[in-house]
Amino acid sequence: MLLTLEGLDGSGKTTAWEALSRAYPDATFTREPTDSWYGDAVARSMGDADADPLAELFLFTADHADHLSRVVRPALARGELVVSDRYSDSRIAYQAASLSGSGLVDGDPVAYVRTVHRAFSRPPDATIYLDVDPETAAARAGATNKFEHTTYLEAVRENYERLIDDDPDRFVRVDATQSEAAVVEAVRTHVERLTAES
Ligand code: TYD
Repeated sequence: MLLTLEGLDGSGKTTAWEALSRAYPDATFTREPTDSWYGDAVARSMGDADADPLAELFLFTADHADHLSRVVRPALARGELVVSDRYSDSRIAYQAASLSGSGLVDGDPVAYVRTVHRAFSRPPDATIYLDVDPETAAARAGATNKFEHTTYLEAVRENYERLIDDDPDRFVRVDATQSEAAVVEAVRTHVERLTAES
């Protein structure tokens, strides 16, 4: 089973993911961007305020392709639970927000980024969405990268909402404005249920 954690920066995803990794020692815990050289290229692009948003989409997507073949698919083939801190929905939410209004792609950027993934990716079986308002997210994240600003995160959140509307059965929404402990507890409860159902 492939389970992903998604949400705005500062939503507490990584804390929840770390808590889960202690609760499920036999599962594969992984994340995007990865720590491969593709991930290094992504980090370099994130550090460049003038990076071309389309080029950046493909760097993130290259990192995802490598992550799939090197980590995700082999772990699933071994029958393991795989939990990824960010996955394809991050591209659809973030890079579509970067592309919106850029004139770099024809039509709807959300539809385009989805199409790019559809041909090769492995969709998650379930996704826990840590829902936090953009102001809280930006304040918690502290603007350590170019994505962590309220107006940008508003567009990212709208894209996440579109994804949830289109695929409500895959998503579980957790209120991430709660305390860190409450968020972790809610995530753990959902993961217990989801893994028991699968
Ligand atoms: P991450 O390392 O998960 O940061 P955090 O722990 O703060 O969530 O992700 C780094 C940034 O990369 C984050 O701002 C979201 C962004 N991102 C994308 O824009 N597209 C993607 O496909 C992924 C995986 C991340």
